[in-house]
Amino acid sequence: MADSFETKTVHIGQEPLRQVKSKASPIYQTSVFAFSSLEDVERYYEGEGEFLYTRNGNPNQHELADAVAALEEAEAGVSAASGMGAIMAGLLAVLGPGDHILVSHEIYGGTYSLLFNELSKLGITAECIDLNRLDSLDQHIRSNTKMFFMETITNPLLTVADMPYWIMQAKNYGLTVMVDNTFATPYLVQPAHYGADLIAHSATKYIGGHSDVTAGVLVGKQELIERARQVVVNYGASLSPFEAWLTARGLKTLALRMEKQCDNAKQIAQFLKSHPAVKKTYYPDAASTPFFARQKQGAMVSFTLADESRIYDFFRSFRWIKLAPSLAGVETSLSHPVTTSHRALSPEQREASGITKGMVRLSVGIEAAADIQEELERALFV
Ligand SMILES: Cc1ncc(COP(=O)(O)O)c(C=O)c1O
Repeated sequence: MADSFETKTVHIGQEPLRQVKSKASPIYQTSVFAFSSLEDVERYYEGEGEFLYTRNGNPNQHELADAVAALEEAEAGVSAASGMGAIMAGLLAVLGPGDHILVSHEIYGGTYSLLFNELSKLGITAECIDLNRLDSLDQHIRSNTKMFFMETITNPLLTVADMPYWIMQAKNYGLTVMVDNTFATPYLVQPAHYGADLIAHSATKYIGGHSDVTAGVLVGKQELIERARQVVVNYGASLSPFEAWLTARGLKTLALRMEKQCDNAKQIAQFLKSHPAVKKTYYPDAASTPFFARQKQGAMVSFTLADESRIYDFFRSFRWIKLAPSLAGVETSLSHPVTTSHRALSPEQREASGITKGMVRLSVGIEAAADIQEELERALFV
């Protein structure tokens, strides 16, 4: 070690840490990795070393992606800076100029915008189809159709289409199938079991579970994931080590959280269904989820107020349930799709889809169900 104060300030403590056996995973908060020799650098490029530069790969990113891949029972995984980063990587791993993709008409607004505002500029065309009405893909398949995309539980109507049936149809036409499993999580259903090639998550939601990260994970077939990894690296959509670490930490309690949140949601949905101030409650019907691994229907509940002119007062009257336009945290939260996630829809589109001014989307947390119900009861009081 050089003697001068300036040099010591920069280099002190920079010797590799002793191989301590920390119980929790360390955070590799580094943008780049050091090599002992030029030969080691060459070995990395020959595929023998794993880490060079965090945008290309980092142990914390890998820990998260491998954990989600294992839970989804998929071959491999890659993490991304957000759910949208993961979806983009999955789409661009397969699609190129001139290709066509069939997507469920009930998809997250961000995915819609990615397809119709961004990927359209690359010459990729997307077509929305109604999985609740159609009985076959026949009419929609073109010679350039390459992919099929759907969500397990949709937002905010919480519709569950017959995923095994649609995957089978898409596979019959040789399409690559991608499923956004954000709302259901692998705790409820593993789309890979039904033949999905790629499964995307906004890990910002249940995978992280604490509303303190923005992250995405894409898992699926090894060769598609390797291609998607290149997209993440080349488009600069890599997840930061700290966010990856936080998300992997949150993931450890996924089963506990989902169990409690789903049970709470079921109770709240029953309460809302019989409430006179509620016009309609949206909560997946057990009959629509026979392919779920558990007798649970998720932890999101949407509903419409009987008197939609009360919507501003309704949102004002909560004491501890927050109005927050995201979902899936341990705290119950509320959102108003018309002013947030579905703001871009025209009034006609909203009317046609049933996403009206009086609609409320409730993300049910882990609190005591009776307390959540009491808060809602007061706000709904007529
Ligand atoms: C179903 C679904 N997919 C993808 C996304 C995008 O995820 P992120 O916000 O982490 O980019 C969201 C965000 O709300 C979502 O609800």
